[in-house]
Amino acid sequence: MSLETLLNEARLIDMSASIETDRSTTIAAYFKRAQEDRLGFWEDRARELHWFKEWDKTLSWNKPHAKWFEGGKLNAAYNCLDLHLEKYGTKTAMIWESEDGTSQHLSYEDLHHRVVALASQLKEKFGIQKGDRVTIYMPMVPELAVAVLACARIGAVHSVVFAGFSATSLRDRIQDSDSKLLISADGGYRRGAVVPLQAIVTEALSNNSCPKLDDVLVYRYISPKEPLADLGDYQVHDYLETVSENPVHHDAEVMDSEDPLFILYTSGTTGKPKGIVHTTGGYMTHAKYSARTVFDLTPNDVYWCTADVGWITGHTYMLYGLLSNAATIVMYEGTPDFPNQSRFWEIIDKHQVSIFYTAPTAIRCFMKWGDDKISDYDLSSLRLLGTVGEPINPEAWMWYYSVIGKERCPIVDTWWQTETGGIMMTTLPSHKPLKPGSAGFALPGISAQIVTVDGDAVSVGGGLLTLTEPWPSMLRGVWGDENRFIETYWSTLDTYFAGDGASIDANGYITVLGRIDDVLNVAGHRIGTMEVESAIIEHPAVAESAVVGIPDDLKGQAIMAFVMLKGGFEESEALISEIRQVVSDSIGPIAKPKMIMITPDLPKTRSGKIMRRILKNLACGDSAGDVTTLGNPDCVKEIEAKCQTL
Ligand code: WTA
Repeated sequence: MSLETLLNEARLIDMSASIETDRSTTIAAYFKRAQEDRLGFWEDRARELHWFKEWDKTLSWNKPHAKWFEGGKLNAAYNCLDLHLEKYGTKTAMIWESEDGTSQHLSYEDLHHRVVALASQLKEKFGIQKGDRVTIYMPMVPELAVAVLACARIGAVHSVVFAGFSATSLRDRIQDSDSKLLISADGGYRRGAVVPLQAIVTEALSNNSCPKLDDVLVYRYISPKEPLADLGDYQVHDYLETVSENPVHHDAEVMDSEDPLFILYTSGTTGKPKGIVHTTGGYMTHAKYSARTVFDLTPNDVYWCTADVGWITGHTYMLYGLLSNAATIVMYEGTPDFPNQSRFWEIIDKHQVSIFYTAPTAIRCFMKWGDDKISDYDLSSLRLLGTVGEPINPEAWMWYYSVIGKERCPIVDTWWQTETGGIMMTTLPSHKPLKPGSAGFALPGISAQIVTVDGDAVSVGGGLLTLTEPWPSMLRGVWGDENRFIETYWSTLDTYFAGDGASIDANGYITVLGRIDDVLNVAGHRIGTMEVESAIIEHPAVAESAVVGIPDDLKGQAIMAFVMLKGGFEESEALISEIRQVVSDSIGPIAKPKMIMITPDLPKTRSGKIMRRILKNLACGDSAGDVTTLGNPDCVKEIEAKCQTL
């Protein structure tokens, strides 16, 4: 699939009949209202939340600083729990599926009860006050959701650190946010093995490295009887003991709309992660509205988002967006291939999941594992599918649509970022026909444009993706680094620059092509790594590929491709030259990879992003660099060994 083919993708699949008429009518009205009165539209959406006091001013925009719903008072956790108790108290809020196959159902009352118990201890026992930061480092267990919501309930700013991050990453994030409390666990499970979180925490905190941190609260999940580790300078407390102490019931803290709700660290172009700051009123407004609208949520749905809570997708489209709509969510502890490659389909069958949201990289894995892994399971409960995180190649889109969705379920390809807080673009099936590989259109209330480097609008063709008007869930800054906030997002263009390249077609569909920082320059020609990768995937033997630029004396940069084959295909010289030819045929001889290396796997973050930086290091004969964020660090050694034979 070359970029050209992606951009020439002509299929339009009309799935409007899959959306009930009243909800289609609502969406049409949203588009109209947002068009006529954008701020009025957002006021209507904000009113769907519960406010202790309504705002005085809808928006103050002092670029790049936005204040939404100033003067309004609300609480995010109250909107996710307390608000539903009367009507949905006994409804299942969360179905938790453990890696070993047991499940727990928590009603809204149960979840509320647990959150209130922890929240009261955070205040009473640890003296956490509104605005204090709390770092959360936990496996995918219900207590993680409880910890997040308990912070929100008392107005503490949570910073969830994905439990796959290393001790150094954890330490950096605790320090950068000046957290007073760390909520963690003794460990988690991953593919049947224990992830030793306690040891990682101990290492992160060694040598009194986090002097602002006072207490560590440990949920003993793996070994409830083991004594707690002594962490020297920090007070260590047992989670279950703590929450079983007599709670003092506090009402949810009254927060200003612009009080920070959370910080979430994300990688940028420099080595140091940046703490993206989101506030309360605007974030919750968009989370609630977009979750309901994009996923066509109804009260009977069982919704499963496969992301970890440690990423923005887990924040917005597992917790805040869904719970604020009183939805039933599935939270799964493990990986898609444990104990076997049918795990996801088994879970969908078991819990009658109706809405399923995952990443293209997972979809490509499922394709590779083969359709027979799916055939034993009943997927008829599914009615809507979603993807997020990277561009989806039309081949994977069509596979998802036909094999998983049985051509009954619309697919929402959702484009957004940690910084945007929620979904900015997707094709709503009631609005337009779906176009494989293309995210499509900005949601009502959001203004997306493709512009040239000079900021001129492109009506048809490629350019930079920008959001031209402020939106409620936009980042309010980079924690403690105002310069970086301005430099990264507001200095390239006059408007918010997303860092992505995209193209718009004559019908207004926007196709996101990927980060523009991954562009190569080969003999003066700009070539997207994604462009070459999608060409390579066109070869029937290829499951996935990653392309990097390596230094080349003649051309400046040359292309090196790492290729993962589908099951049943063997590496051979003939196959490699065929793959090279596919690229040449589909883009042109300039895009022909200089080198193609067949690898058993590609290094990926746990959220499924291929780490090209690591491949580039290896291809250049350097050491891999930081591999702590990888979900599959083992493959690095194999690739390194192969690179050394080049
Ligand atoms: C990419 C994840 C194409 C994009 C929610 C963006 C996508 C980055 C899509 C943000 C999509 C996300 N199509 N590309 N549907 N969704 N991206 O912050 O490059 O982890 O800038 O947020 O992922 O990644 P982040």
